[in-house]
Amino acid sequence: MEEKIGIIYSTVDGQTKKICDYIVDLLDQKQIKAKLYSIDEFDANINDFSILIIGASIRYGKHNKKITKFISDHRDSLDKIKTGFFSVNLVARKHDKNLPDTNPYLIKFIEHIKWKPDVLDVFAGKLDYKAYPFFDRIMIKLIMKMTKGPTKTDEPIEYTDWNRVEEFSSKVLKY
Ligand SMILES: Cc1cc2nc3c(=O)[nH]c(=O)nc-3n(C[C@H](O)[C@H](O)[C@H](O)COP(=O)(O)O)c2cc1C
Repeated sequence: MEEKIGIIYSTVDGQTKKICDYIVDLLDQKQIKAKLYSIDEFDANINDFSILIIGASIRYGKHNKKITKFISDHRDSLDKIKTGFFSVNLVARKHDKNLPDTNPYLIKFIEHIKWKPDVLDVFAGKLDYKAYPFFDRIMIKLIMKMTKGPTKTDEPIEYTDWNRVEEFSSKVLKY
């Protein structure tokens, strides 16, 4: 039987979607088909999938509520199939916070949600001061200052380690 693969994401500025697109491309190169959904448009039946990947970014310490609700509502169905979850945040750019068991957001999330995906990971996101409205810019500067990162940049910085994304994808899909 052919695997049916779904990827669900929640993104605000596009980095989590970019990571999902990258996974879709990797799979495409291996002639593996996957269907991509934003959490806002997902209307399929989880039971129709054999593999589901969920990716969500962090905003002010939290993943999108819709992602949390989706997982809580469908935990039983998710437990019956192969699953992968990844979080995207800026704290994960730090070497001591870039693993599932060292990234504070992911640790807290998994504790809270009481769900154990088969493969879990966390990827560093993108910093783009120019794209943020005033209040967000001030807040991100504060977060970056507290975590000893740049508080001023001329160009966006993409911290995402694409090799890590590839490793995650190969672990979930077993290719
Ligand atoms: C308003 C705002 C709040 C954020 N809050 C956090 C945060 O609390 N911790 C963190 O590590 N990263 C934080 N980030 C960084 C994002 O997680 C990062 O930019 C990520 O790439 C966003 O992914 P997305 O474009 O898929 O939403 C924040 C970014 C924004 C714009």
